[in-house]
Amino acid sequence: MAEGVEETVPEGNRIPRPFDTEQLTSARVYNYLLGGKDNYEADQDVAHQMLSSTPELKTLAWFTRSFMHRAVAMAAEAGIRQFIDLGSGIPHSPNVHEVAREIEPSARVVYVDYDQVAVAHCEALLARSPGVAALLGDVRRPHDVLDQLVEHNLIDLDEPVAVTLVSVLHYVMDDEHPAEIIAAFRERMAPGSYIAITHGSSESSPEILQVLSGTDATSAQVAFRSAAQTGALLAGFELLEPGVVPVQQWLRPDLPDTRMIMLGAIGLRR
Ligand SMILES: C[S@@+](CC[C@H](N)C(=O)[O-])C[C@H]1O[C@@H](n2cnc3c(N)ncnc32)[C@H](O)[C@@H]1O
Repeated sequence: MAEGVEETVPEGNRIPRPFDTEQLTSARVYNYLLGGKDNYEADQDVAHQMLSSTPELKTLAWFTRSFMHRAVAMAAEAGIRQFIDLGSGIPHSPNVHEVAREIEPSARVVYVDYDQVAVAHCEALLARSPGVAALLGDVRRPHDVLDQLVEHNLIDLDEPVAVTLVSVLHYVMDDEHPAEIIAAFRERMAPGSYIAITHGSSESSPEILQVLSGTDATSAQVAFRSAAQTGALLAGFELLEPGVVPVQQWLRPDLPDTRMIMLGAIGLRR
């Protein structure tokens, strides 16, 4: 175990309660922003508050999804054949396995989320997809997740993998040691592996940060971080160009800025 990582998860409201429609979850709020139907009033309410100060949020959700597609395609083109999508959420096509298999039909993919509802949606979608699996796991217990991956036998950690953590790490509070969580995964990733993350920026507009504070004490509470703090989470990886920048900059130079800034970064394990 990486030094300082405690294999305990704080008790309280910061774990999604399956099938509690009164309490918002980040998976369902995100599903709403992406135009999905798997969400409830509590999720829509907070999404509407966010949209009232930052109407371009739906566009940002799609830029972020596009960053993930780009990162997966980049890894598949570099020869990666196994993918681990941590905090995978409610599926929304194209998902990681669809993007990877466009390039490499034999790609194996494991989706991991701590929200039982997200995992159930994933399992339903994947019922007839050999080489793809969904696991219930909490990234704040990295060693448990890694053990599950090994037990499941779909991912060979002796071979390079691509790990995606798209809009997940800002749900990990400072006292839950996000850098040590990444380090625990990095230690088990073979040389030549990739990691791609997106992370909410503390340099987003104050109005949106204020709205987001309404999620405090729920499982969707966020800790947005600066570009420097986000880059520090990927210590030990070689950061690919253009570095830790708004996701738009990974896509095309002409895309508009957004008041909520979502940082994207891709690291290579040498
Ligand atoms: C904003 S959604 C992003 C979903 C997906 N990665 C995407 O980009 O479409 C955040 C997801 O992270 C999951 N999540 C948050 N904290 C987590 C944790 N500690 N362990 C596993 N999943 C987590 C949530 O349940 C949710 O599905």
